[in-house]
Amino acid sequence: MDRIFSGVQPTGNLHIGNYLGAIKNFVEIQKRKNIIKSYYCVVDLHAITVWQNPKKLKNDTLETAAAFIASGINPTKSIIFNQSRVSSHAELAWILNCICRIGWLNRMTQFKEKAGKNREQVSVGLYAYPVLMASDILSYKSTLVPVGDDQKQHLELARDIANKFNYDYGVNFFPEIKPLIFGGATRVMSLRDGNKKMSKSDDSEYSRINLVDEADIIRKKIRKAKTDSGSIMDLKSLDDKGEFKSEVICNRPEAVNLINIFCATENKTKRDIIEKFMGKNFSNLKESLADSLINKIAPIGKEMKKMMQDSSYLESILKEGAEIADEDSKKNLFEIKNIIGLN
Ligand code: TRP
Repeated sequence: MDRIFSGVQPTGNLHIGNYLGAIKNFVEIQKRKNIIKSYYCVVDLHAITVWQNPKKLKNDTLETAAAFIASGINPTKSIIFNQSRVSSHAELAWILNCICRIGWLNRMTQFKEKAGKNREQVSVGLYAYPVLMASDILSYKSTLVPVGDDQKQHLELARDIANKFNYDYGVNFFPEIKPLIFGGATRVMSLRDGNKKMSKSDDSEYSRINLVDEADIIRKKIRKAKTDSGSIMDLKSLDDKGEFKSEVICNRPEAVNLINIFCATENKTKRDIIEKFMGKNFSNLKESLADSLINKIAPIGKEMKKMMQDSSYLESILKEGAEIADEDSKKNLFEIKNIIGLN
């Protein structure tokens, strides 16, 4: 039996990378049988590790919750809430800060990437970000955590923190955390540059498909997506597991990306798509891909916009979610404090 937790940052401009790489998978896990409870959290405290405009943050938090619900996360089955409303997350994070070693954080590649040369000037929060993430998961003693592959290292850290806590206090309190890393489109790349991740902060609107894009915009963006001068590759481009060979990813990143997006959107294998399009022009694939995205994504965007027009429904879902999450996490925090000698 599993307890599921995952988090999504309220970044605004949610795009198909966020959907195919995370939210869509949450919806699918919902169908599993052996789940005790699932928590889907809008991680606003993670967002403020870099400066956020307050009004925009509030709006982006609602929009992320809207994306959850419009994509099919059922708020009567799963708990949807935002992190800052449940104080256990920050409180347990402090305790875990005292468990986690500086050397462990120094190895986090995402911090190195985000801080870059500016290491002395970024917030302490950005550095401690992975500890808050461990706290999110461990506040509910979660066992299964669906994430994109860029979060793998953070999950390993969460596991190390849990193990050290258990060891230091001679308890078996935190269960093992199992990552659930989705293959295929966990990495959706920019439509303008197949070597860059699709990102909300890319200057070019044409680099991404936003969830709220209208049908004609989706088609236009896909038509303009960068490709190469070849035709669609054949089955020799796949390895025996049905994944693209690394030299193909290296030589034809844009083509690979479009096919990956197609597979993820339609729940098809690479073989399925290649068998249908091999040897053809990109324009063929692009028209079908645009149809597919318009079919699957445009209705989600429409529903999100509807919910955002009158946010009272979203507010009520977040409030109810936070009440349940607060109650569940407080029980665990009480036990943790007992173990440490804090009560
Ligand atoms: N760091 C994650 C991301 O950027 C978001 C996140 C925060 C998360 N807390 C979490 C994911 C807990 C899984 C579990 O994608």
